[in-house]
Amino acid sequence: MSATVADLAWIQKSENTHQAPLYAKRDIALVRGEGAYLFDTDGKRYLDAMSNYGVAALGHADPEFAAALADQLATLSTGHQSFYNDVRAAFLDELLSIAPAGLTRTFLSNSGAEGIEAALKFARAATGRPGFVALRRGYHGRTLGALAVTADTKYRAPFEPLAPAAHVAFGDAAALEAAVDETTAAVVLEPIQGEGGIHPASDEFLQAARRITRERGALLIADEIQSAFRTGAPWAITHSGVTPDLLVTAKAVANGFPIGVTLLAEAIGTALPAGAHGSTFGGNPLACRAGLVTLRAFRERGIYGKNAALGAQIVERIQNLNAPKVRAVRGRGLMIGVELKERVTPTLRALQERGVLVLPAGATTFRLLPPLIWEQQQADELLAALAETLA
Ligand SMILES: Cc1ncc(COP(=O)(O)O)c(C=O)c1O
Repeated sequence: MSATVADLAWIQKSENTHQAPLYAKRDIALVRGEGAYLFDTDGKRYLDAMSNYGVAALGHADPEFAAALADQLATLSTGHQSFYNDVRAAFLDELLSIAPAGLTRTFLSNSGAEGIEAALKFARAATGRPGFVALRRGYHGRTLGALAVTADTKYRAPFEPLAPAAHVAFGDAAALEAAVDETTAAVVLEPIQGEGGIHPASDEFLQAARRITRERGALLIADEIQSAFRTGAPWAITHSGVTPDLLVTAKAVANGFPIGVTLLAEAIGTALPAGAHGSTFGGNPLACRAGLVTLRAFRERGIYGKNAALGAQIVERIQNLNAPKVRAVRGRGLMIGVELKERVTPTLRALQERGVLVLPAGATTFRLLPPLIWEQQQADELLAALAETLA
């Protein structure tokens, strides 16, 4: 059953006329999804290798997920956090059972940027310091606080002045050491940079960031909005043996239902008094039910182990194509970047024509962020398409 008109021309006219023109649109309208596949208005099927920017972890129209949300809609969908709620409590229990050691408190919001915004506010409150240090090529969202730590001047310039933030080269521990001082509330970093082109930080760099922040009395904020759940473990940063003071996630944690999660160490999570921060929609029972079902599914379906192995296989098979266009293949688990020696747009188009949807990550890299339910068949379909397109 559809509530709308599935006519491409009508859809395009409506969106192009009524939306602020902030998105470079692709020329298809996606109207239906099933598992690892998406369908456009003509019924053409696409292999989903992007999960809507890393969001649809259980794929599309998962029956267990859909039934749980329908049940929650028929029970209680909205509920402010000034009242207790059974589903929120169950979600927090499930989430905290996989949280990095020492992260015992949470703030629930509705998006990645809001989760970062909360982390920055808690970091300032807990340290009494104003400044932040972030990394070049880093991306943390578009609200004014999150934008201050985002690196790309294209995003930042129209909105200056922003909160004080220094940006140092990714992987340069000496530069980080020089930038963190007694005015620094926190260092903010992605353990694997996503929008910046899929660049995994080395273990040594993450360990240095942990040491430097600890020595200088600053906090370490891990932005795992994109990297969580897809690298063979719940959190990418823990592969390096590093535990941050705050960790932010969003995207996949509720399989596409909007939610932001800020995990906090006990002393930081209790640094703000009642009323100092909040959100009307944050922690609503529908979002919490979505998160609860998703995290349970990850655990019960053995998602973490599966995506590590499948990701490694995909990286190896792309490398073995020996495609002359490819400069480098990077990533971990089902978070993979393929850097080309040329601009990426023609490859995105050719893959879409061939029925495969991938995302750009910068001018010359395309990104694979598939649903975490991918099996061997989807990997084989992807590789067949890449072998043709990259040849
Ligand atoms: C690493 C990272 N941080 C923050 C964000 C912002 O999240 P949102 O778009 O939900 O505000 C994103 C979104 O792509 C992201 O990848």
